[in-house]
Amino acid sequence: MSNTQINLKSLIGDHTTEEFLKLLKSRTPFISHGNSESLKDLMSLPFLDSVGNLAACWLDTVDVFNSEIADEISKSSVSPEDALHEYNNGSCILFNDVNRMIPEFDMWNQQIRKEIGFSELSFVRNLVYATPAGKGNAPHFDQNFNFVIQLSGTKKWWLAKNNTINNPMTRHVIGHPVDHELEGYSTKEFPESFPADCTEYILEPGSILFVPRGVWHMTEAVTDAVSFNFTFTPPTWIDIATTALREKLSHNEKWRESAILDNNGSNNNEFNKLIKGLSADVENWQSADFLDITEHQEL
Ligand SMILES: [Fe+2]
Repeated sequence: MSNTQINLKSLIGDHTTEEFLKLLKSRTPFISHGNSESLKDLMSLPFLDSVGNLAACWLDTVDVFNSEIADEISKSSVSPEDALHEYNNGSCILFNDVNRMIPEFDMWNQQIRKEIGFSELSFVRNLVYATPAGKGNAPHFDQNFNFVIQLSGTKKWWLAKNNTINNPMTRHVIGHPVDHELEGYSTKEFPESFPADCTEYILEPGSILFVPRGVWHMTEAVTDAVSFNFTFTPPTWIDIATTALREKLSHNEKWRESAILDNNGSNNNEFNKLIKGLSADVENWQSADFLDITEHQEL
């Protein structure tokens, strides 16, 4: 491997980091073409050269999408040999967590995570999708941020603004049941078809598409196509607060007490006392009290 690092700059085209952060925060997608040179450390890896090579090197199962559903909600995990066979017969296949194969990937992932300012609690991984010509993904949104790098072939993407829910914490596929928690905090009905007001993007080898959290998208491969994703699932403030709160409360043996309910489970004096004490404490808390717990853990 040469020494041209993959970092945030490699993924954001002509944008500055500041411009990119504005796009990320406003959930604005963008595409950048002709990045094969700056991504050569990735694009020239022999095992990513073809679906056959990747399958031959792969030591785990591969996900094969049910072609009726065309989404990861309906998939089977099979051997790499069987997956290659399914791919050659027209099924989309997914190699999950490719970062397990090469240590540089995790190094790049963590470098990019830090440059963006995502917490150490972020879940970061790489995925490789192999999509036969004419096939693609059903319309959906994800709860994560994706940089999609086209390694080979041509693929069309359609993206549309999500006017139903901001900051979803789970994904949703149009036409399928809504996740229970997602339904709980959504105030609008989810659409039954892909929004007509969408933008088409055509990805060629070396193209990078930024797909922000919550943006509707669907795809179709024009030719057999392989893409590599940098997928970032950062914690929400809810996650940061509850993780740090758990750590803080764990220092108090009263909070560590096994919960035993009285009054048919609707009231408990001991718990009321703990909650009162907590609300008094909360007034003095600052963000640093939480972030000191969740961040800077890496050596
Ligand atoms: Fe997606």
